[in-house]
Amino acid sequence: MASHRSAAASLLLAVWLRVPLLLLVGAAPPRPSSSCQRECGGVDIPYPFGIVDSPDDANCAMPGFHLTCNETGINGGSRRPFFSNMEVVRVSLQQGQVRMQNHISSYCYNAISQGMDADPWQLKFTGTPYRIADTNKFTVIGCQALAYILGTSENEYASGCVAMCRRGGGGGGNVSSALSNGSCSGIGCCQTAIPRGLQYYEVRFDSGFDTTEIHDVSPCNYAVLMDASNFTFQATYATLPGFNATFAGEAPLAVDWVVGEETCDAARKNSSSYACVADHSECFDSLNGPGYICNCSKGYQGNPYLQGPEQGGCKDINECTDGEYPCSVPGTCQNIPGGFKCQCPKHTKGNAQNGTCERNRTLGLGEKLGIGVFGVVLIGLICILAIEIIRHKRSIKRQALIRQNDEYYQQHGGQILSEIMRVERNIGFTVYARGEIEAATKDFDKANIIGEGGQGTVYKAVLDVDGKDTHVAVKRCKEVDESRTKDFVQELVILCRVDHPNIVKLLGCCLQFEVPILIYEYVKNKTLEDLLHSQPTSCRATLGTRLRIAAQAAGALAYLHSLAHPILHGDVKPANVLLTDGWVAKVSDFGCSTIDEKTQVVARGTAGYVDPEYLLEYQLTQKNDVYSFGVLLLELLTGKKPLSKLRKSLTVMVQESMEDRTLHHLLDREIVGDASMGVALEATELATRCLVMPGSRRPTMRHVAEELRQLADQVKQPLVSECHSLTVTDVGSSMSSECDTTTGVFSLEKKVVLSMEFAR
Ligand SMILES: *[C@@H]1O[C@H](CO)[C@@H](O)[C@H](O)[C@H]1NC(C)=O
Ligand SMILES: *[C@@H]1O[C@H](CO)[C@@H](O)[C@H](O)[C@H]1NC(C)=O
Ligand SMILES: *[C@@H]1O[C@H](CO)[C@@H](O)[C@H](O)[C@H]1NC(C)=O
Ligand SMILES: *[C@@H]1O[C@H](CO)[C@@H](O)[C@H](O)[C@H]1NC(C)=O
Ligand SMILES: *[C@@H]1O[C@H](CO)[C@@H](O)[C@H](O)[C@H]1NC(C)=O
Ligand SMILES: *[C@@H]1O[C@H](CO)[C@@H](O)[C@H](O)[C@H]1NC(C)=O
Ligand SMILES: *[C@@H]1O[C@H](CO)[C@@H](O)[C@H](O)[C@H]1NC(C)=O
Ligand SMILES: *[C@@H]1O[C@H](CO)[C@@H](O)[C@H](O)[C@H]1NC(C)=O
Ligand SMILES: *[C@@H]1O[C@H](CO)[C@@H](O)[C@H](O)[C@H]1NC(C)=O
Repeated sequence: MASHRSAAASLLLAVWLRVPLLLLVGAAPPRPSSSCQRECGGVDIPYPFGIVDSPDDANCAMPGFHLTCNETGINGGSRRPFFSNMEVVRVSLQQGQVRMQNHISSYCYNAISQGMDADPWQLKFTGTPYRIADTNKFTVIGCQALAYILGTSENEYASGCVAMCRRGGGGGGNVSSALSNGSCSGIGCCQTAIPRGLQYYEVRFDSGFDTTEIHDVSPCNYAVLMDASNFTFQATYATLPGFNATFAGEAPLAVDWVVGEETCDAARKNSSSYACVADHSECFDSLNGPGYICNCSKGYQGNPYLQGPEQGGCKDINECTDGEYPCSVPGTCQNIPGGFKCQCPKHTKGNAQNGTCERNRTLGLGEKLGIGVFGVVLIGLICILAIEIIRHKRSIKRQALIRQNDEYYQQHGGQILSEIMRVERNIGFTVYARGEIEAATKDFDKANIIGEGGQGTVYKAVLDVDGKDTHVAVKRCKEVDESRTKDFVQELVILCRVDHPNIVKLLGCCLQFEVPILIYEYVKNKTLEDLLHSQPTSCRATLGTRLRIAAQAAGALAYLHSLAHPILHGDVKPANVLLTDGWVAKVSDFGCSTIDEKTQVVARGTAGYVDPEYLLEYQLTQKNDVYSFGVLLLELLTGKKPLSKLRKSLTVMVQESMEDRTLHHLLDREIVGDASMGVALEATELATRCLVMPGSRRPTMRHVAEELRQLADQVKQPLVSECHSLTVTDVGSSMSSECDTTTGVFSLEKKVVLSMEFAR
């Protein structure tokens, strides 16, 4: 959409550059004229933004920040600011954000042509100061909907989301009965996070999910990237009148912007382009990619992009007259640049800001004594009174807190957990208090985030485990299904007994928050996904290592499936296989939502890995995990992601090349040599057996693990991964610490065998 942007921006730059040259004003950046329009349709447009409707207005905005004030409505009744064809509803200098209205894409049944009408959409911010904030969520709404969001080919990003309404059964059925207002959790609505710094994306609908059969109830599927912080799903979004009609075709999008393309340090050096020109302004590096934004220093307010206070730059805040009087009552307030002072009135002394002012009078000895005694008594009384009041208030507060926390505790099945823990001692599981978790994660400080999984956000923290301070991973679950708390708690107890070398160990939980908090052992944050796809690949795992990792992950899943109360994973993918220092696989990301074959489940899974059969049946089985694992195995062998907008899906490619007998072209030639081709083909064949339809014909996870272990043993390769150094000369020193610790593989391999036996 903004394809003409960069040309327009450079034209603007040319116009803008001439101004200082003509005025011959040294290096100072130009100032916007005071006649510039600073408001449009009720929206404030502060510099560096500006309304540029004609070339004369060019210096009203910094290059790249120009908006237009266009007429909208049928009769051109009102005006609104636009960036290209997107309406701007708010501009915030302090947050470095603007809010725009984003187009809702739809995929609707057309009763006339009796087919589906697609409405694809792409958003292009490349070459502009704008970046899509990573707080937005890709939101898909519909009763039979699968939509993909695809990024640029440079940072090949592809994700998708499935929204279905029915449970079980093929076509027809009563779609509206499963819908309910509230959370967006897969039933009629699905949301997924996006990566940081995105400047381009496009939306596509999967044509396999059409609404022909249900068009009288739910004719349309919708998809949009939107700020979902205030979004609550309504049942009518997926049925009639529909999401698009309710939102009038547009949803809010949070967009970050930056000035410049360098860091603050680099920008300060180039005074001719440094944008924080106001006195008393500060520079902040953008958190969402290169560039920076400016802010007024503490005690000042205004526009940090304008020079002097007269032009609207940062002005001292007069704390004495603004809002609450900052000094204690007898004190007088004096405003100073960047702050204020409190002084006691004449003939008195003391601390007028935090304390009180006392009279400064010379007194007789008797008077002094009398006043002294009286003062002491009085102060004593006041102290006692104050302490009582504080104590009373605190006890009320604490009781409220406990009551409130208790509510969550009950809600998440704390009672059942206490019961189980009372009956069965030594279950090696700790129930942490709210305070401990808050202290350990610094109130869920964003700086401590180490991962964002399908089930929740993971924070790194240090907690007391068995009396020792230990690094742990604290997972804050996304949502809870309250009707299933009993299963949830029982599954926690089962999971915490699991002591498998290839499964991330659950150490404890805390049930005193709105959502359950789970505490896991900390595994250095490196996943199989990183191993396969992160660039540059200085270390490539050999075929032997890959098969060994696959065998370990398969063994872990087989173990979970073999428990007396089988646990299904439901979201098997490389990002959920963590790797320890010695490249030992540890399966993670389960526990928040309970899954077993008899009771039912919340929708989960990741586009590309999720079993199509699950999407139709909506019933998770062990075979769904087998399917996802099959995709993972193909990814290991070919080095290709399952979904890409540039080609067919990986599973289709493999199927086609099996038929053509050209499978060896598809395998990653960097890891499969001629010697190991036989093993690689056998492994590929095993993967395709994991993908067959119907699912009942797929092998069990246990069988897959067994076969992979045998294949791994056949590869005559060193276990060590090959670390290709960039220069041939320093091979020795370039063996990075990530790769030279491979000894763990041997000892743990034995443990896998042991626990396989244990698992029957
Ligand atoms: C806004 O008006 C400008 C001309 O003033 C035009 O070039 C632009 O396409 C209009 N944008 C929209 C979204 O209507
Ligand atoms: C800028 O200052 C305001 C007010 O002091 C603050 O709310 C805001 O978070 C600051 N922005 C940044 C990026 O620090
Ligand atoms: C579908 O379910 C809704 C709510 O349970 C009910 O009101 C409606 O009559 C059902 N429609 C059909 C066709 O069964
Ligand atoms: C959802 O909320 C709307 C109003 O907000 C209400 O009319 C409707 O009955 C609710 N539907 C369900 C299934 O609760
Ligand atoms: C969300 O809603 C609250 C309350 O209605 C409002 O104060 C806040 O600004 C909204 N946030 C966003 C991002 O729109
Ligand atoms: C979505 O809503 C907009 C505005 O109401 C309308 O112009 C557009 O035709 C709608 N699209 C669909 C597919 O209904
Ligand atoms: C300083 O900024 C100007 C204008 O953006 C640019 O042309 C110049 O190359 C920059 N100089 C340095 C040293 O980065
Ligand atoms: C307070 O009294 C002291 C002597 O007791 C004197 O030195 C000082 O100047 C007085 N301060 C004021 C503000 O009168
Ligand atoms: C007032 O108290 C705050 C902390 O409570 C302290 O930081 C500040 O320095 C105190 N001000 C004066 C003038 O003593």
